[in-house]
Amino acid sequence: MQAVQISKKGTDVPFYLPQRDECDVFNAAYRGQMPLLLKGPTGCGKTRFVAHMAAVLGRPLYTVACHDDLSAADLIGRYLLKGGETEWVDGPLTRAVREGAICYLDEVVEARKDVAVVLHPLTDDRRMLPIERTGEVLEAGPQFMLVASYNPGYQNILKTLKPSTRQRFIAIDFDFPPAEREIEIVVRETGLGRERVAQLVRLAGKLRALKGQDLEEGVSTRLIVYCANLIEGGMPIERAIRVALIEPLSDDADIKQGLIDLVATVYG
Ligand SMILES: Nc1ncnc2c1ncn2[C@@H]1O[C@H](COP(=O)(O)OP(=O)(O)OP(=O)(O)O)[C@@H](O)[C@H]1O
Ligand SMILES: [Mg+2]
Repeated sequence: MQAVQISKKGTDVPFYLPQRDECDVFNAAYRGQMPLLLKGPTGCGKTRFVAHMAAVLGRPLYTVACHDDLSAADLIGRYLLKGGETEWVDGPLTRAVREGAICYLDEVVEARKDVAVVLHPLTDDRRMLPIERTGEVLEAGPQFMLVASYNPGYQNILKTLKPSTRQRFIAIDFDFPPAEREIEIVVRETGLGRERVAQLVRLAGKLRALKGQDLEEGVSTRLIVYCANLIEGGMPIERAIRVALIEPLSDDADIKQGLIDLVATVYG
């Protein structure tokens, strides 16, 4: 588990180019004290979006990368031994509630089942966080917000949110940005010239069309940013495409050859 505190009011707002109206939805959720669920494929901008909105709203951000061993205690806190004494130490969720921060649970479906029990009273109109071990019951103030994300593409039947959990959130469905916006993002992130970025984005569009047939997930905006960074740093285009857009997608020699053939249709 890791908790990272990122932003305070006025400190640099991370660059985020909206895909649609997601900033308005986030703002409305924040003002309406509603938890927000972000759904979408890997590398499409969910984490950047949350970092951006936290900075815009001037709230500290606690990010928790959920994994299959993450328990309620990891979020809430635990007694730790310190110099022979036991001392209560808040977990990131408790800290966020106390401070009126944004708590971002990344890949929330991975977390253990007892996490849902903790989230339920916090994500309905009670907005309460009972801390069983200390007997404290915290009430979340108007500045606290819970944001969770997951990638519906990975889920199997065992790993979906229960309706009683998911119906406590309003939800935004993310996808990769439209081509013009994605070009803008990659140019801003890497400084590579627009023409060369446009060609990479065109290639990414073709690679994404293979999703479902040969590939589990389409090439992400993150990988295009990597690729453009490598090219901007001086790597030959063909090599950058190979290491950033082909090898990360598949281990299968035939599939990789198919992808390389596709590259030739854009760069041929
Ligand atoms: N709308 C956007 N504005 C600015 N940068 C973006 C945007 N979308 C994607 N990016 C770029 O893509 C990279 C990956 O985005 P991010 O890490 O937010 O993805 P993610 O959806 O959280 O992925 P994962 O599900 O794997 O955690 C960012 O570091 C940023 O460079
Ligand atoms: Mg992320």
